[in-house]
Amino acid sequence: MTGFEEDRPTVADGGDGSTGQTRPESSKRKSEHVDSCLRDDIVNSNNFWDGVQLIHCALPEVDIEAVDTTSQLFGKKVGAPIVIAAMTGGHSHGREINDNLAAAAAELQIPMGVGSQRPALEHPDYARTFHPLKDHDIPLVIANIGAPQLIDQKSGKALGVNDIRRAMDMIDADMVAIHLNFLQEIAQPDGDTRAAGVLEAIAELAEDIPVIAKETGAGISHAVALELLEAGVKGIDVGGAGGTSFAAVEAVRAEERGLTARARIGWTFKDWGIPTPVSVIEASAVLPVIATGGIRSGLDVARGLVLGASAAGVARTVLAPSIKGRAETLEALQLVLEELRTAMFLVGAGNVPELQVQAFILADDLLAYLARFEQEE
Ligand SMILES: Cc1cc2nc3c(=O)[nH]c(=O)nc-3n(C[C@H](O)[C@H](O)[C@H](O)COP(=O)(O)O)c2cc1C
Repeated sequence: MTGFEEDRPTVADGGDGSTGQTRPESSKRKSEHVDSCLRDDIVNSNNFWDGVQLIHCALPEVDIEAVDTTSQLFGKKVGAPIVIAAMTGGHSHGREINDNLAAAAAELQIPMGVGSQRPALEHPDYARTFHPLKDHDIPLVIANIGAPQLIDQKSGKALGVNDIRRAMDMIDADMVAIHLNFLQEIAQPDGDTRAAGVLEAIAELAEDIPVIAKETGAGISHAVALELLEAGVKGIDVGGAGGTSFAAVEAVRAEERGLTARARIGWTFKDWGIPTPVSVIEASAVLPVIATGGIRSGLDVARGLVLGASAAGVARTVLAPSIKGRAETLEALQLVLEELRTAMFLVGAGNVPELQVQAFILADDLLAYLARFEQEE
């Protein structure tokens, strides 16, 4: 079994979003991730974005309607520096969620990633839960595969460059995000915990394909960012601590199965990781960065950009609306966009480059992290 990857088709059952008769044994697990994220207390105990203050400008000297949120991300023009972060696909609601998100991404001209596509690589029926991205005009589409699956694991053989190309073709992707989720794998029964050789596998892939390295809630340090630069990745989605905790999600799932010891590991490491704002500062000194992890509003997006990110990623914030429908999803993202515009107006930034050079104040706990970073440099 693997973290985000575990929707393996096995038994005939139907109702899984696939066209055939088979149902992935774990398509229900993918739904469980969604259900747990909506229902349980699985969010990091700290939201570090509150430790980032922007400086008010009483004389913005720009009309709010004239504030320009358009931006560039990995060579694509986008309507705003907001990315719909990787979430789902490969289960009964996956197609609908992806369709609602994709429609909003097209309407607002913002980038979108999908959840891990391994289930669809192994069982082509599941590809249809990802296909909505092909039906919409999205400026930047990001495929998704787990880093542990780039090397041999007990659960199966390594995926190769042709597999990744198939994943990208499935959604007409511009890039692939290779997600680093070892905390989740550890917290999960029978997770894919082999990690030696992953960096080399990423480097091999990056020779042929534009790769983003993406954490999933524990952040990326400056030292790791340097290794990823060396490996040839084009960008980093820091996936820092402060939002959804997949250690906690897996703890809930382990508890539901009576796996007390495994659940305890998940709870012990629920808040583990580098705070997203710190990770943004450290990694953006090395490569273009997407600030994902705990982004609740357009104000948090603005904070991420001021710290050095090229864009910010939202997952949990748009999850509930994406289950309700297209209108609700669009409305939620429009609100984030309006909050971003407001933050830009209130710091006196008429466009994204002007936002990115604004001053900021950091809380003491974040400064303590950065003192260590400065010592390392
Ligand atoms: C329901 C759900 C499923 C997710 N599945 C994936 C996945 O398959 N691949 C991945 O790279 N990240 C996945 N993530 C992680 C998000 O992309 C993001 O890094 C993380 O949730 C932190 O952002 P948030 O605090 O805004 O939720 C998932 C997140 C959620 C909420």
